[in-house]
Amino acid sequence: MAYLLGIDIGTSGTKTVLFDELGSTVASAVSEYPLYQPHIGWAEQDPEDWWKAVCETIRQVLSKSGIKVEEVKGVGLSGQMHGAVLLDKDGNVLRKAIIWCDQRSSAECEQITSLVGRERLIQITANPALTGFTASKIMWIKNNEPQIFEKTCKVLLPKDYIRFKLTGEFATEVSDASGMQLMDVPKRKWSDEVLGKLGIDRSLLADLYESYEVSGKVNKFASGLTGLKVGTPVAGGAGDQAAGAVGNGIVKSGVISSTIGTSGVVFAYTDKVSIDPKGRVHTFCHAVPDTWHIMGVTQAAGLSLKWFRDNFCIEEKRTAELMEIDPYVLLDQEAEKVSAGCSGLIYLPYMMGERTPHLDPYAKGVFFGLSAKHQKQDMLRAVMEGVVYSLKDCLEIIREMGVDITEIRASGGGGKSRLWRQMQADVFGTAITTINSSEGPALGVALLAGVGTGLYSSVAQACEATIKVKNVQDPDMKLNEKYSRIYGMYGRLYNSLKKDFADLAEML
Ligand code: XUL
Repeated sequence: MAYLLGIDIGTSGTKTVLFDELGSTVASAVSEYPLYQPHIGWAEQDPEDWWKAVCETIRQVLSKSGIKVEEVKGVGLSGQMHGAVLLDKDGNVLRKAIIWCDQRSSAECEQITSLVGRERLIQITANPALTGFTASKIMWIKNNEPQIFEKTCKVLLPKDYIRFKLTGEFATEVSDASGMQLMDVPKRKWSDEVLGKLGIDRSLLADLYESYEVSGKVNKFASGLTGLKVGTPVAGGAGDQAAGAVGNGIVKSGVISSTIGTSGVVFAYTDKVSIDPKGRVHTFCHAVPDTWHIMGVTQAAGLSLKWFRDNFCIEEKRTAELMEIDPYVLLDQEAEKVSAGCSGLIYLPYMMGERTPHLDPYAKGVFFGLSAKHQKQDMLRAVMEGVVYSLKDCLEIIREMGVDITEIRASGGGGKSRLWRQMQADVFGTAITTINSSEGPALGVALLAGVGTGLYSSVAQACEATIKVKNVQDPDMKLNEKYSRIYGMYGRLYNSLKKDFADLAEML
């Protein structure tokens, strides 16, 4: 039997999973690390924490699995997108990485738009300038920390830093690199025009591969730290969303996914470049050659529930620990006691600003409609419903762009909750399915590594060999009617508060 290793460098932790060639999980391990928020709206992580977590989880997985290390035929890398890891000439990290949800670079987005021109920027990079993307983070460093920028010899994405540590290669691949906003997305190559206008030297960037291609081999140093065999091939891999899409079989028209991780994403495959002229959803290269994808992103999906859990559910966390179960199981039980619509309580999940559909770094989280009758569990359910409304915002734009939708697959940590999946079915008015594996990004990049090393003939064939629909939840159309009315108000609330969000940001 051949085995493939998928590594997903997420925001809350790294998950490493060993799969057999049928896509079944053989062993997995997770290691968590901190997120630093030195100011409101800033978000940083230490790349050395990611590397330690990667080494530790690979060692654990290899030892749990009991397989011979030569049987690992390839490694795939997935990770949080958009983060900027800055290295000096000796490959040392120059500062903490500014990561995807950091919102400090509004001024740099304006600068990028004026340097390239809004229309031209969208034509080339397929997206308007966004604080989340890497280009504005690089420009922020250039403008605010010139002493660091001067020493910078490479800017890598999070998973590509891990590739550098594993193989010594500076390489990336098209799906994750699309989110740097320095690529010509229709042509799948770096854009000399954008780089030139922003004054970013091409030599700062890694070599660009298709996602299935082998980009390096595990070196002696990394072999010593991880236990992997020297020479094990490392494939391009993919940004976490494209990787998750492959791991959910979103590699053909009609099937889209709805993922609740730290962020929330509705993801659709397209065989042509398709751009929302208003820039409300992102268009990136897919991890399948010659295809693209569009995705709507809500910044604080799982993050909202985690925030609620950590701040208001200390007792539930303790009980769960005693019962040796996941605290989210108890939270689901509490939320289930509340009727749909939470007696008029509505939550806007803009805790880290918002991308789709508002593109507003100043937006903030809101509870609207609180009355003395409401209890903690109403607020809990309102958080879950608010996240689903924000996913519906993404879905509606994708529908508006003419994407054919025959099936919506739920995934991510939030996709494990039966209640949250049912809310999605009821709010979207569409059946929600789940598949036989919940490993999403780790499975996706393991499959890509399988394609790169010749185990499968194509990404589509890899998905066919491993992914099956396991469960279908139908919508309750009565609840859909009710939710649709609340969703209307949810949308109006943002418009009423938009100016106040900007004024508040000025005051902070
Ligand atoms: C996608 C995005 C998130 C992060 C973290 O554009 O920002 O998916 O990659 O999960």
